[in-house]
Amino acid sequence: MYMETIDPKDITRIAVVGAGWVGISFAYQLSTAALCEELVLIDSNHAKAEGEAMDLNHGISFAPSPVRIWAGDYSDCRDADIVVITAGAAQKLGQTQMDLAEQNATVVRDVTNQVMASGFDGILVVATNPVNVMAHVAWKASGLPKRRVIGSGTVLDTARLRYKVGEYFDLSPRNCHVYYMGEHGAGGFVAWNNARIYGKSIGQLLEENNQYSQADLDDIYQRVRDAANQIIEYKSAAYYAIGLGLLRIVRAIVRNENSVVTIGAHLDGEYGVSGLHIGVPALIDRTGIRQIIEIDLTDAEQQQFNESADRIHRAIANVE
Ligand code: 2OP
Repeated sequence: MYMETIDPKDITRIAVVGAGWVGISFAYQLSTAALCEELVLIDSNHAKAEGEAMDLNHGISFAPSPVRIWAGDYSDCRDADIVVITAGAAQKLGQTQMDLAEQNATVVRDVTNQVMASGFDGILVVATNPVNVMAHVAWKASGLPKRRVIGSGTVLDTARLRYKVGEYFDLSPRNCHVYYMGEHGAGGFVAWNNARIYGKSIGQLLEENNQYSQADLDDIYQRVRDAANQIIEYKSAAYYAIGLGLLRIVRAIVRNENSVVTIGAHLDGEYGVSGLHIGVPALIDRTGIRQIIEIDLTDAEQQQFNESADRIHRAIANVE
């Protein structure tokens, strides 16, 4: 019998902290994505993590490549390449993401301390709301370099925006080049000035075709901004799309993609702002955030960005 063992460095391990709707939606997508050999679920309710691991494992024979899934504890983070934090209270009807800051800061700080105590030295991805504030809390608690603490930022808002813009202009969302920036959800904004649809600017499209209007674009923005509350009203929580958004970020890391994704990055002077995480387009590779992309904003958009940054700054000051 051959008895060689695999070098642990050749195994990609991803740990998910928080086996709630968001964590499990992500874990489910990940279990069929052929991106890792090991997937650990960690939850303060260990039985919940056990049940989810069993359920996911029962589907593995249908997955494109094998993945070992188990309900673990924080010591399993030591050999993880990526830890995805989704733990914390979820938004309720009528709340904004920012309303969760105080209660979730305690959870995210505690989780990060436990992850780091394991000896973890990989990339942290943070999805707990309010995500920019929580990414900052995790970054501070972890002591990791800023490129290795990535918030989900406005990845979900940008996906919602591209879906609505694609529907409006009758184009695949993948070909709708437009970013939602700043805060996640309420308080974020659309960088319309930089958008390219059919290779044209929004200004050109509105000028050339009177079936399109600024009022319709404003309506799209409002629908994207209010999407979370609308879904929460209909079915209590939103999770599939953020699960896929987290998978997008993780794939860009694991596959060393150098892809542009709108994530929550720590800024040090980019866009004239410092000392906080905020939603911006950034290049993601195996090292985490390789580069923040500074697109041209109009004065009005820069003003919206600054207002978002001020609110995030205030929320950070409140939980520090
Ligand atoms: C969302 O936007 C609730 O932040 C969550 O779906």
